[in-house]
Amino acid sequence: MVSANGMHSRAAVTVVPSLLSCDHSNLLSAVQPILSDFSVPWMHFDAIDGLFAPAYGFCPQSLLDLRSAIKRQLNRCPKFAVHLMVQQPNVLWSKFAESGAEEIVLHLESPCEIVPLARKIESSGIRCGLAINPETPFAKCAPLLRHFSSLLVLAVNPGFGGQDTIPGTVEKIIEAAGHREKSHRHYDIAIDGGIHFKNAELFANAGADFIVSGSAIFCNGCQRNAYEQLTNILRGTREGVGSRHRRPQHSASLE
Ligand code: DX5
Ligand code: ZN
Repeated sequence: MVSANGMHSRAAVTVVPSLLSCDHSNLLSAVQPILSDFSVPWMHFDAIDGLFAPAYGFCPQSLLDLRSAIKRQLNRCPKFAVHLMVQQPNVLWSKFAESGAEEIVLHLESPCEIVPLARKIESSGIRCGLAINPETPFAKCAPLLRHFSSLLVLAVNPGFGGQDTIPGTVEKIIEAAGHREKSHRHYDIAIDGGIHFKNAELFANAGADFIVSGSAIFCNGCQRNAYEQLTNILRGTREGVGSRHRRPQHSASLE
């Protein structure tokens, strides 16, 4: 859509709950309060192999089971983006695809040929995203973005929920939004890691379309209220690309 000032406007910013910090023994109870009351388009599911990052995440079977349980309970199910923090995404992606993933996110830093893999994933009818670690400059992934449906900027070191964002991440989002505009590409921009009530707006105004958030939603007592609060904060942050490039004052202290 092109707005009155000639700039492309984009859809509203979406809050994407990340499940890594939930009680893994009862994921349905963790997500049910949110899914019952809100229409949540996307959920974020972290797969970690202990090698790419020093932690472990979810396996394909947990995705399959959780999706079935949600469907049984609510008769509908959000889409799942699977964030592969693994050394062999080429082996694992199809297992998550068979378990119902609607998006597979590959890391630029994974030791495998990610462009042919992205082609394979997209030609199987699943969206493919590209993720970059905090130490990877945006310039390194820019030439590859034409092969991907989304860019996920990781604002923390991979592997754990509940960390603070690494300074410089907002600038990376601004850079990505500028590149997208100039290059006329259509990839979505997601921010993941350390996003909470005080800094979500900053990242949305910088250009993020998807705000992935884990512990702010699931570790604050009432996940329903936390999700609603984050959604309310982000309502109205997106008026057009021009407005997203303005950096709010005091942003560094909020990162
Ligand atoms: C970190 C994961 C994130 C994590 C986010 O490696 O990719 O998705 O779950 O959790 P918070 O929002 O707690 O940083
Ligand atoms: Zn993640």
